[in-house]
Formats: sequence, C-alpha cells, structure tokens
Amino acid sequence: MKGNIRGCGNRNVLAKENDMKIVIANDHAAVELKQEVKEYIESLGHEVINIGTDSNESCHYPEYGAKAARMVASGVVDLGVLICGTGVGISLAANKIKGIRCGVCSEATTARLIRQHNNANMIAFGARIVGAELAKDIVKSFLESEFEGGGRHQIRIDMISAIENEE
Ligand code: RB5
Repeated sequence: MKGNIRGCGNRNVLAKENDMKIVIANDHAAVELKQEVKEYIESLGHEVINIGTDSNESCHYPEYGAKAARMVASGVVDLGVLICGTGVGISLAANKIKGIRCGVCSEATTARLIRQHNNANMIAFGARIVGAELAKDIVKSFLESEFEGGGRHQIRIDMISAIENEE
C-alpha cells in the first residue's frame, strides 16, 4: 500500500491506495451490476457506501446522481461510482453539483485518463452498455489512477471551475 495525496472531491486527505471511501449509486436499470461492482470494489480493499437504489422498481436517476455527488463534493467520501442504463443521465445530474467532475466511460483507458488529466472525482457507466467484467476493469482503472497534478491539467480544471463559478 503506498500513501499518496488524493486531490479529488474536497476530502484531500492522505489516503492509502486501497483505503478509500467510495459512494456508489444507481437507478433501477443497474441494481444487479451495482451489487457486483460494489463487492468488487470492496475486494480491492475500499469501503463502499451504497446509497441505492436496491429496487428494480422504476426510479429517477437524478436523485441518486445528485445525492452521491453531494457526498463527494462535501468530502464525506473520496470518489463516486454511478450506474444507470447508459451512464449518461446519472452523470449529467452529478455534474450539476459544484466541484463534481464525472466522466462516462465504457472502457478502462478513458477511466484512467479522466483521473490523470481531468482529476475526475466520479465515474459513470451504463448497465445496458458494459458487462460486469468490463465494468470491473473500468472501476479498477479509475480507482488506481492518480491525477497527474499541476501544469496544463490544473490550468484547465481551474478554467472549468471558473465557468462553474460564473453560472
Ligand atoms: C432508465 O430507463 C434509463 O433512462 C436510465 O437508466 C438512463 O439510461 C438514463 O440516462
């Protein structure tokens, strides 16, 4: 386990690589995949806070995306994982919360790059788009990657924050 500074969310604590707090949220389209991904993240050594839904009854993904995003933005957790049918709806809701940078990923390379370049603090994917094994690869890549920090990436993230502050 290596120690490193995680500049994500607002938690900004000295976190060990496999000792993070992760919030996971989903709508009705992703209950089964969420459970599998949750157990996988736990098997990597992280604590997972599941805020639902755990029901197959139709629900509204913005509620879950926003609730999880608020937990990341307030620093209650380090990072967040969101799943809906496509990953898009729930990510759109999350990205409305100040300080959230959530990317939709259908493969592991993008999952790595949104951490390294965009300092994404949430990831989203679609239960109707990716299977369980691919979902695990995506999540692993996201959780194990670090923001490359400083320089051009920080300048661009600061520009995003400035846009957010203008609205
Ligand atoms: C729910 O049917 C579906 O619209 C939702 O899971 C998601 O794909 C929206 O982006």
